Amino acid sequence: MTDLIIRNARIALPDGSLLEGDLACTQGKISKISAQLDMQARESIDAQGKTLLPGAIDPQVHFREPGNEHKEDLGSGSRAAVHGGVTSFLEMPNTSPPTTTQAALDEKLVRAAKKCVANYGFFIGATPDNLEVLNTVSPVCGIKIFMGASTGSLLVNKEKDLENIFAHGSRLIAVHAENEQRINERQVEFSDRDTAETHSLIRDNECALLASELALKLSNRYQRRLHILHLSTKEEVALLRQDKPEWVSAEAIPNHLLLNVEDYHTQGALVQMNPPIRTREDNEALWQGLHDGIIDIIATDHAPHTLEEKQQPYPKTPSGMPGVETSLPLMLTQMQAGRCTLKEVLQWMCSGPAELYNIKNKGRLIEGWDADLTLVDLGNKKPVRNEDMFSKCGWSAYAGWDLTGWPQYTIVGGQIVYDNGTIRDGVLGQALQFSE
Ligand code: DOR
Repeated sequence: MTDLIIRNARIALPDGSLLEGDLACTQGKISKISAQLDMQARESIDAQGKTLLPGAIDPQVHFREPGNEHKEDLGSGSRAAVHGGVTSFLEMPNTSPPTTTQAALDEKLVRAAKKCVANYGFFIGATPDNLEVLNTVSPVCGIKIFMGASTGSLLVNKEKDLENIFAHGSRLIAVHAENEQRINERQVEFSDRDTAETHSLIRDNECALLASELALKLSNRYQRRLHILHLSTKEEVALLRQDKPEWVSAEAIPNHLLLNVEDYHTQGALVQMNPPIRTREDNEALWQGLHDGIIDIIATDHAPHTLEEKQQPYPKTPSGMPGVETSLPLMLTQMQAGRCTLKEVLQWMCSGPAELYNIKNKGRLIEGWDADLTLVDLGNKKPVRNEDMFSKCGWSAYAGWDLTGWPQYTIVGGQIVYDNGTIRDGVLGQALQFSE
């Protein structure tokens, strides 16, 4: 007998086509996909009218544990993930203490094993003097460099320190590309302003471009695997359009595709993040970059802060917005509106991140691959409501947006973990493996 059968679903196949049929899960794997399966299962789901997708992989989240568990922790962050159809996540090192040593990484892995309901992987954080750790620590999905300071203490902004990291080793380097010197100068220049929209003036497009140019230059010099996180400007898209070697990849997040400086008028510092939200023109350039393959994948940069923290006067407000539980419905809603295809969404959010980070057997519905799945409802719309969020921070910048594609079930390793609004007890995710 098989463990779980999802019957009568519209199953999203790797080529983007939909097969009306059944999918069976056995011992954590997708054991069979077929128009009709005549077999018994311990549990079955009638998925009539619903669409079965590979679980999304969110390759950039901040889950705050250890150190800031009042905003989020690995348990709450992972529950938010499966609520949004995300079955695997890669978490950033700007926790407290930061993840800059093997011991700090081990500590996160131990904590995650006890409470994460989705699969998890972690970045190692670069400092000016932990080069040896960066190249020996394990298991990590890559090295994170904050070229400009953001939440937390991590920063490597001097070119000689950056060059030292790019010159030694072969692991993927993921950069938060903002130029620290320009940020500091402009903070002084705009110090008489106290509205949140000042944030986009201080950390302007040039800040992002200067840092992306430097990262690209160093990556070219050493042919070093580079991933530019949360690309936000039309200038960076143009830069990569001109020069994107095969060892360079880039990412966009829904906030930079769907929000822009006009949103400060209604949302104030709720939409303050690093790099900041930009203009409509930048939104458009990022969409075009995605369609053209200049931008490879979508992450969320899920960065929860409490509403109380976000309600302080600017510039005391912390930067970042939650996003892990709304990204898939947001993108599926964009798909329904004709902005992109299902094939693109699956590539940007499922198979693309798996390939980019060398995560085997995830991101596609293929027999023998891991049974990480989400069954979504594309037939109805439901508004985002703060009170429905599973993230500990309890709010979303998309509150009030009417979205389709909300998950009804999310399945991790062949086990139902999210079931129509509730998390089932006893299901845990696993540590992701990264083949180098
Ligand atoms: O806005 C941001 N918030 N950008 C980052 O790079 C970090 C994040 C956070 O951790 O709060």
